Amino acid sequence: MVERQINVSFIEYSSIDELGPEDRELAAEAIAAMGSAYAPYSHFHVGAAVRMSNGQIVRGANQENAAFPSGLCAERTAMFAASARYPDKSMRSIALAGGVYGRLTAEPATPCGACRQVMAQYQTKAGAPVTVLMIGAKRIWKFEKVDDILPLIFDSI
Ligand code: THU
Repeated sequence: MVERQINVSFIEYSSIDELGPEDRELAAEAIAAMGSAYAPYSHFHVGAAVRMSNGQIVRGANQENAAFPSGLCAERTAMFAASARYPDKSMRSIALAGGVYGRLTAEPATPCGACRQVMAQYQTKAGAPVTVLMIGAKRIWKFEKVDDILPLIFDSI
């Protein structure tokens, strides 16, 4: 018997101004994308922005539906739109931000498990790490790869 550990390290920034230019741009796009949320039920507006290998940024926002499971999170909206628009390009990074009635949360927005799984697959497709930026008004977290937020990724089929 052996006890093993999974260690994750990530960077915490105290302001969007501390980010490098590309991350700052992606964070700003995610915050702007919150404005496109359709969230008449939760009123929680989430924005996401994906940067592709050609440098293009594709935004997404959560879209809700009266038949609740038919809605979709901001991250998957952005990733699916990005992959549909640039099927031959790879996903490099994704940023997300959220808040009730569009008011950015103090703490970083964290993606749901289903969105992490979809990030994982686009990372596998890319064959290179996809960075994840979680934006909050008080702090921002940057993870260098999806494995860091979804250890023991399922990708065996
Ligand atoms: N939501 C996202 O857009 N991304 C997440 O990672 C978590 C939750 C959305 C779904 C729903 O429209 C609202 O936030 C409340 O759960």
